[in-house]
Amino acid sequence: MIVVGSDHGGYELKQVVLDALQRRGIECADYGTDGPDSVDYPDYAAKVAGAVSSGEAESGVLICGTGIGMSISANKFNGVRAALVHDEFTAQMAKEHNNANILVMGGRVLTLDQGKKFVEIWLDTQFEGGRHQNRLDKITAIEQQVAKR
Ligand code: RB5
Repeated sequence: MIVVGSDHGGYELKQVVLDALQRRGIECADYGTDGPDSVDYPDYAAKVAGAVSSGEAESGVLICGTGIGMSISANKFNGVRAALVHDEFTAQMAKEHNNANILVMGGRVLTLDQGKKFVEIWLDTQFEGGRHQNRLDKITAIEQQVAKR
């Protein structure tokens, strides 16, 4: 299950991403926003990242104008690894090395075709594990340390 959310800056690309996921037969849910009117990106980051953090969804896609606000917000949630990607290489690495469970993009940075392509690369790439899993374990340890403060 992949949950997808955006603010107004990412609305158009979100619709393209949802269409691409549905065409691939992937179960997905649209967590808004529902149109081009101005909204606040943290509200949508919280919906998507909250669902991934709780295990309600396996992964997510978040899109705002630059992708910056969505990635800052989503990475506040335990267990979330939200990666802002700009090109095919970072889309691949986001899964291969970081096992990103939320892909973040900038709707005002990318073309619709680029955004769709980056989602496909992220979906089609496998996490490499090994030394990269050790590094993710260290991120989890940081989360646990921070939670104790
Ligand atoms: C909204 O104008 C814009 O600030 C937002 O989409 C995003 O780029 C924030 O990081």
